[in-house]
Amino acid sequence: MSPIKAVCPGTFDPLTLGHTDYILRAAEIFDHVIVGVLNNPDKSTLFSVEERLKIIEETFAAFSEKSAKEGQVKWIGAKRIEAKSFSGLLVDFAQKEACQVIVRGLRATSDYEYEAQMALMNRHLNPQVETLYLMTREKHSYISSSVVKQIASFGGDVSSLVPEASFRALQKRL
Ligand code: PNS
Repeated sequence: MSPIKAVCPGTFDPLTLGHTDYILRAAEIFDHVIVGVLNNPDKSTLFSVEERLKIIEETFAAFSEKSAKEGQVKWIGAKRIEAKSFSGLLVDFAQKEACQVIVRGLRATSDYEYEAQMALMNRHLNPQVETLYLMTREKHSYISSSVVKQIASFGGDVSSLVPEASFRALQKRL
């Protein structure tokens, strides 16, 4: 069977532990995972696309080293995870990168409507690209980038909600 490439798309402003967990799980299933960071100048973000990419790269590099050292994971997916920005349509990016699958994390039923619309629209635009969902772990199901930013902006502790690289970036910015 030929290798299967997947794209995990999002705004990632910034990357949370919920994102990290589902991306690593996708990397255990697929041969190669591209974290697709949306570069949309019309959408205001706390971090620039370069900053968001750097956080993602640092997170998965650190995860790889840590896991290898502690001998927790026999095969480390982080080597097969790369971060790239995209603008325009997600299905065009997926096709350009030869990704057959779009993978998204699903937290709760409240995510369903938005996700279903996106998946159906993407299928309408390009039926060759399939969308799959990974259920978020319960402990991450209440985390979102927007809630993290809100808590951090009021001085709340978000260290258990985001990876270290996001935490450091939030501390610097807010
Ligand atoms: O993390 P987010 O903000 O929920 O991610 C949304 C994202 C980036 C996956 C979505 O907005 C997207 O794919 N945008 C690219 C534009 C596009 O392809 N639109 C058509 C599908 S609705």
